[in-house]
Amino acid sequence: MSIDPALAALLEYVEAELGFVTSHYNTSYLDRRVSSRMRRTGCDTYEEYLELLQADPEEGTALLESLSINVTGFFRNPDVWAGIRDVLATLSETNETIHVWSAACADGREPYSLSMLAHDDDAIDESAIHILATDISEPALETARERTYTESRTVDLGDQLDFLESYEEYVDHDPETRTYRVARSVANLVTFERHDLISGELKSGFDLVICRNLFIYIDNEYKQSILETLGRSLRPNGYLVIGKAETIPPKLKSAFEVEDGRLRIYRRGADSGNQEVESPSHK
Ligand SMILES: C[S@@+](CC[C@H](N)C(=O)[O-])C[C@H]1O[C@@H](n2cnc3c(N)ncnc32)[C@H](O)[C@@H]1O
Repeated sequence: MSIDPALAALLEYVEAELGFVTSHYNTSYLDRRVSSRMRRTGCDTYEEYLELLQADPEEGTALLESLSINVTGFFRNPDVWAGIRDVLATLSETNETIHVWSAACADGREPYSLSMLAHDDDAIDESAIHILATDISEPALETARERTYTESRTVDLGDQLDFLESYEEYVDHDPETRTYRVARSVANLVTFERHDLISGELKSGFDLVICRNLFIYIDNEYKQSILETLGRSLRPNGYLVIGKAETIPPKLKSAFEVEDGRLRIYRRGADSGNQEVESPSHK
């Protein structure tokens, strides 16, 4: 795709001065996010918006937040969560400890869904489960650690939580403030950490890695390297779950076996190279 030189200059500025590696992301995605900030700030041209960015550090923060768009939910795509439930139950049959990585976890509702599911299902041993939840966005992680979510006109949190027969045990709902606070017992299984999936350190030793709804924004070239990183972080036969609208690039198809194609659940091949099986590289 040929890129408007003024947009290219703007993206170069963002990469050099604000530290967000724009070259890793899909140009039309970046253009949509920048254009949305331009509308909000009343800028008509990329040049005008670049001037604003240079003059106002707060706009830099707002743009960065908008670029790492963190739309998420509890039990997003409930049919996939039924598949994740089966995976956790299967792992519970054989493993004394189960290490899970929720990569690109946004504001924490994905790893908290994992923990609630583990507490809720008798076939899953929650005391065996350790969840590492990572994201590139500090503000998203801050919300995650606060574990309090506020309902809005467009987001019905009760509806999302209805995946569980009765969520009241795990989430404290205050109808007056329209907030939902995740219980400490649920949060106790989760460790949050800032991590960039493109440039961050490699991880290893996971039985299940969930990385959903990130690849839709990422440039194809980096998508492959992130998937390689995720694949290497798994133990042999470990499970990978990607977003329902996402696919494994053809070059990597041989590295993963399809467990459930419709739900995008895969397994790392038992003989994929570079296996690190001892223990996960996180606490
Ligand atoms: C749409 S959200 C997906 C959240 C959750 N996985 C889900 O499916 O509901 C995408 C998340 O990816 C994060 N992200 C973007 N680039 C990233 C990177 N290079 N490394 C780690 N996380 C990244 C964003 O901050 C955002 O929270």
